Amino acid sequence: MPLRTITALNRPSAPSGARPTITNALTLDSKAELDLLVQRLLAPAASIPPKYFYDALGSTLYNAIVLTEEYYPTRTEAAIHQRYRSEIAAAIGAGKQFVDLGSGDSVKAEKWFEALKPSRYVAVDISESAVIDALSRLAGNPDSPELAGLITDFSRVLDVQAVMNDSATLFFYPGSSIGNFMPDEASWFLKQVAAHRRTNQCGLLIGIDLKKDEATLEAAYDDALGVTASFNRNVLMHVNRLLGSDFRLDDWRHYACYDSAFGRIEMHLESRRETTVNLRGEERKFRTGERIHTENSYKYSVPEFEELLRSAGFAQTRSWVDEREHFAVFYAN
Ligand code: AVJ
Repeated sequence: MPLRTITALNRPSAPSGARPTITNALTLDSKAELDLLVQRLLAPAASIPPKYFYDALGSTLYNAIVLTEEYYPTRTEAAIHQRYRSEIAAAIGAGKQFVDLGSGDSVKAEKWFEALKPSRYVAVDISESAVIDALSRLAGNPDSPELAGLITDFSRVLDVQAVMNDSATLFFYPGSSIGNFMPDEASWFLKQVAAHRRTNQCGLLIGIDLKKDEATLEAAYDDALGVTASFNRNVLMHVNRLLGSDFRLDDWRHYACYDSAFGRIEMHLESRRETTVNLRGEERKFRTGERIHTENSYKYSVPEFEELLRSAGFAQTRSWVDEREHFAVFYAN
């Protein structure tokens, strides 16, 4: 994997030698990525990978989604963390290196620093600017642990060796983001985390959105204010910028439904009328009512996810759940 050290941040308030190193491992061949996006839009069952939601506006809309009444996962997970912080920290043990997968603004992780006293903090995210901003902020706090950053797309392969040392490790994967993986991909991801158990002591703290009644699930992905609808439709504006395509916003409506057979929320964009879109010279015709699949968000039961952890190679699992049993936090090692 080609590694590129992009920046070392100044940390004026800390002793010298405590500058975080940020490594960029994005092998992102952007031409191949965009070819794949065009292919997926030309396919008979059109789709867009959910990572394209997160341009600047999309990321801001996501931050607004978590504030809606209906979207319970983020605040429920935060409540579980807060309520059981010391119990969970005791299960994990203090002084480990803390590897934050999908670190974003690092705010969720930072809340654990006092209880876990990590020896190092490694922020891993696909967004270079998010990692730079978060580590700059943490570097300003003299109580922060040693800091490192890695820019990578770990949805393809989890390759974090380059930035880790061989001390005991906690992997942190909150937010139920694993729900975007198909179950076999989720299993492969967990196996890659569990593989670290061979070389050093390693545990995983992960958040899982639980199966529940359809009405609660569907409301969470179709809030009354239309924030999720905007988030979903905005992906077309991002695609237009990337491909120079001509999707028109008012041709597309948000559609979200729970498929209980698959145990997943599906989000789609549904065409309001017959429309033709130019995709880098290729014409793609969409029928009225035709859908573009933009996201799967898998839900698990506690026993289902326990089984997934065990089959991935973790020996022990513990879980903490809120009173309504909407969300679960697992620690596996
Ligand atoms: C960021 C993947 C956890 O699946 O609930 C929120 C994304 N999509 N509303 C989720 C999302 C629509 C979210 N994850």
